[in-house]
Amino acid sequence: MKIIRELESLKAERAGLKGSVGFVPTMGALHRGHLSLIRKAKEENDHVVVSVYVNPTQFLPGEDLDRYPRREESDRKICETAGVDLLFMPKTEELYHEDEVALKAPAYLGYILEGNRRPGHFDGVVQVVMKLFGLVQPTRAYFGKKDAQQLRILQKMQEDFFIPVAIVPVDTVREEDGLALSSRNAYLSPLERRQALLISKALKRASKMVMTGERSVSRIKKEMMETMAPIEVEYVEIVNRDFRPLSQIELQNSIILVAAKVGKTRLIDNIWL
Ligand code: PAJ
Repeated sequence: MKIIRELESLKAERAGLKGSVGFVPTMGALHRGHLSLIRKAKEENDHVVVSVYVNPTQFLPGEDLDRYPRREESDRKICETAGVDLLFMPKTEELYHEDEVALKAPAYLGYILEGNRRPGHFDGVVQVVMKLFGLVQPTRAYFGKKDAQQLRILQKMQEDFFIPVAIVPVDTVREEDGLALSSRNAYLSPLERRQALLISKALKRASKMVMTGERSVSRIKKEMMETMAPIEVEYVEIVNRDFRPLSQIELQNSIILVAAKVGKTRLIDNIWL
């Protein structure tokens, strides 16, 4: 595995990769969720490129940019073991320029839910992913359904800009007890870790309700809010695949999304019905 920090070396190494290239963009502190993206990329492509870059433009002022976990050594080992060809760790000075062209996330999709709570967050995500696509020129790029809204926005970016890459969604990886893996879980104290479990519990409860015939969004939301009463829920929304709110569950076309704060840590999770 080659570790690459300079854009010039990335370009040279990329030029040497013949055949298909699977790309997994990450912000590091890699866990089994990231690993599942890497494995899928490995299965489906001749080569795999992983980027680790804590992208400053997707953090709002006052968010956790400075304390976001950085674990270069273990990230390197995980990638090496998984058979990654290139581990790309760009530097901000090289990646971003002065007075540069700025992309904007879609006016609706980019500013509801996560985008409403974190206005501008998805502008930063599309900006950096567009740069990374230009550099890595992947055949396929892998994104987790855990960040459902991010995934939808990046699918839109690919469609809207006719980018020659296939966006591949990957299922959410969870701990045995249901907690969705996230680099931010590292912030949780043992008590908070137990409280965080209420999010996946509420989602499981909702999915059970749907399985037994419930279709009313308001009744499902109410039940979920009760399950999550001990934590600070920011939103529970049930939307279709285009993120339009639903009043009735549509099977094969609904996503239930939750954002909640546990202590100081903000967590998101969802299920696709
Ligand atoms: P990061 O949070 O590091 O996530 C990198 C990728 O891993 C994303 O596609 C995310 O959805 C996926 N992922 C995270 N947790 C997962 C889990 N439990 N199961 C499956 N996939 C999971 O998302 C970002 O970084 C950044 O916004 C990025 C796209 C790299 C742009 O900076």
